[in-house]
Amino acid sequence: MVLETLNPMHYNLSSLVPDTVPVATVPILILMFFLFLIWNHEETSSIPGPGYCMGIGPLISHGRFLWMGVGNACNYYNKTYGEFVRVWISGEETFIISKSSSVFHVMKHWHYVSRFGSKLGLQCIGMYENGIIFNNNPAHWKEIRPFFTKALSGPGLVRMIAICVESTIDHLDRLEEVTTEVGNINVLNLMRRIMLDTSNKLFLGIPLDEHAIVLKIQNYFDAWQALLLKPDIFFKISWLCKKYEEAAKDLKGAMEILIEQKRQKLSTVEKLDEHMDFASQLIFAQNRGDLTAENVNQCVLEMMIAAPDTLSVTLFFMLILIAEHPTVEEEMMREIETVMGDRDIQSDDMPNLRIVENFIYESMRYQPVVDLIMRKALQDDVIDGYPVKKGTNIILNIGRMHKLEFFPKPNEFSLENFEKNVPSRYFQPFGFGPRGCVGKFIAMVMMKAILVTLLRRCRVQTMKGRGLHNIQKNNDLSMHPIEQQPLLEMVFTPRRNTKKNQDD
Ligand code: HEM
Repeated sequence: MVLETLNPMHYNLSSLVPDTVPVATVPILILMFFLFLIWNHEETSSIPGPGYCMGIGPLISHGRFLWMGVGNACNYYNKTYGEFVRVWISGEETFIISKSSSVFHVMKHWHYVSRFGSKLGLQCIGMYENGIIFNNNPAHWKEIRPFFTKALSGPGLVRMIAICVESTIDHLDRLEEVTTEVGNINVLNLMRRIMLDTSNKLFLGIPLDEHAIVLKIQNYFDAWQALLLKPDIFFKISWLCKKYEEAAKDLKGAMEILIEQKRQKLSTVEKLDEHMDFASQLIFAQNRGDLTAENVNQCVLEMMIAAPDTLSVTLFFMLILIAEHPTVEEEMMREIETVMGDRDIQSDDMPNLRIVENFIYESMRYQPVVDLIMRKALQDDVIDGYPVKKGTNIILNIGRMHKLEFFPKPNEFSLENFEKNVPSRYFQPFGFGPRGCVGKFIAMVMMKAILVTLLRRCRVQTMKGRGLHNIQKNNDLSMHPIEQQPLLEMVFTPRRNTKKNQDD
């Protein structure tokens, strides 16, 4: 912090020279002062941010990312220097952007389709030039993405609605598996199990141990979050990375076993058509020589972790917001009753659930799970007048952007924020453009289906009147709640007003 303050853009350096220096040292000081100015001048950018200061600035900014966590560091820099800031990560120029016009520019253009992250960190978790989420080789990524797009749209998306309804009901019938000794529900765990089950049913179709895999996914996610921006030296100290290496190996091993079972199954089934899901498509691509076995495994792994890592936490936050806002709950229940009456949700109902949809958007704006998007510039460019060199790392701070522009009550949870049509440049919780979230449409139908199915059957309450603000969140790469807090538990009471519950 002290060194960041040496930025000549912010301070008058002549005031740093004391009055009483010996005569002989004055020319030396003046010389040093000019050398310092020249040195800094070369590195001073037109973009706001901490100074380069002979290379110490980059050390400090990377240190800040490691010490505060990525999310907190980004918010700190945007708050201190403005909505377009230059810092350094691993010595590489990195822009942190929370201005909607600049964010929109990056998302829209193909020369930002790559991401950035530590090569050694990504290798450790199997994501380096593999899979989709952090595949930073644009040519490889382009071959992989269509497999995801196909599985997450069209007939798969429609099938997912019935799968979500069935899985939610099934898990509500087995609530004892996620109930604590004092009778509260570990909602995050419940949501993770539903997400894993629904993802498995649509994308892989092999029976699995839900409890064990959910734990492995959590550990894998922690490893990813911890390693993504670590400096190379970290990976030289084997005992520091061991825990993360093991977490990655653990989930990769479990997935390999499931995929092998899938291969066996595909080689014995009579009607292949009935088994043509995401995993089968990848396995056949491997058989044709289009994909490596490693890539197939990583793609299935990423498809299986995508929903448990994002949707489960998002739905968990939503249930807390519902418990905290009874009038919003009443509004939604009235709409659900009008649109669906006594039956469960179907695909035709989706466009008619406007209040539920606005509630989902407002929850994602107010309490997001993903508030940062990492990209890399693949060519020189100019964004809102700022020059961007090829190779620059870019962090889009969408969490902050959603609280800065357009919304009438930016710092409150209020459905009024979505009463008027929101122009897309101001609200992008899934990103957009060629590298936007490939699961954004399926995520919306999954959230609607699970939320509505659950709310029709249960009323939710937070513990002892506690709310979202009490829950400690890990504002690093994502806003996952820190595990093992009793506050994560909630109380579910069956609703008496639905036909199903009355019959029961
Ligand atoms: C609330 C739920 C979700 C949120 C908020 C979310 C958000 C995001 C965001 C912000 C990105 C980065 C986009 C960009 O770079 O512009 C992303 C990427 C991605 N998401 Fe989602 N997502 C969600 C659910 C899902 C689901 C359910 C799936 C799949 C089952 C999924 C699959 C992916 C994949 C594969 C990528 C990487 C795409 C690529 O790099 O080409 N997401 N998501």
